[in-house]
Amino acid sequence: MGHRQIESDAYKAAKKSNKLCYREFSEVPKHDNFLAYIGDLANLLSGASLTDNANTGVVKLADGRVVCLTETIKGSIVIDPNTLDTLEKFEYSDSWGGLIHSAHPIVTDSEFLTLLPDLLNPGYMVARMDPGTNERKVIGRVDCRGGPSPGWVHSFPVTEHYVIVPEMPLRYCAKNLLKAEPTPLYKFKWCPESKGFMHVMCKASGKIVSYLLWQLFILENSVISYEKICRKCVEIHVSDAFPTKKGFVGNM
Ligand SMILES: [Fe+2]
Repeated sequence: MGHRQIESDAYKAAKKSNKLCYREFSEVPKHDNFLAYIGDLANLLSGASLTDNANTGVVKLADGRVVCLTETIKGSIVIDPNTLDTLEKFEYSDSWGGLIHSAHPIVTDSEFLTLLPDLLNPGYMVARMDPGTNERKVIGRVDCRGGPSPGWVHSFPVTEHYVIVPEMPLRYCAKNLLKAEPTPLYKFKWCPESKGFMHVMCKASGKIVSYLLWQLFILENSVISYEKICRKCVEIHVSDAFPTKKGFVGNM
């Protein structure tokens, strides 16, 4: 047994300069002067200053590749599971130009499912990637019902036939992201007035078959999801690591 650091650009830069150089989840580099701050803002808009520190999860794709991930798309890094060597960046070959995705995709023997938040036109693209490819193909889109921005997506549940897209009242917030010092919620804002929703998308058609106004919630690292089909409805049950979550029922 042993461990290795993933040799991301953020890791290599920190080792070289002995300080944080990229914007991490809740830490931002200290700026030497105002000019450096302005430069950082420009790099933030292009995504250049966002971290690629792949420290939220490890998945084994059905084709055998092992990929370490974080919430930034650039932080998708292929490793050798035997030597733990960092091999290369996982480059997506499609034309999706967003900067972030779900930290935890759903990976099975037949597919890789992820959510791609649309920060400009609040919503989420649900995308599938087949084994042996690097191309995400969009299954469908969820338009946010609240606003002014999409809710944070960290993980999401999937059942046999449906993708459950959580729209949490903890929403991305550009104003908080631009602050040099982290706010209590860093790049997010708690917006209870915007409410919380669960969208149910049919995996086969990409259509939204139901949505539910849900309690004000934070869904992180969902661990249980299943559907029960009866004559008149499909029940979708979702819970995460916190025992207070309850299942919900959708008529479809
Ligand atoms: Fe997580």
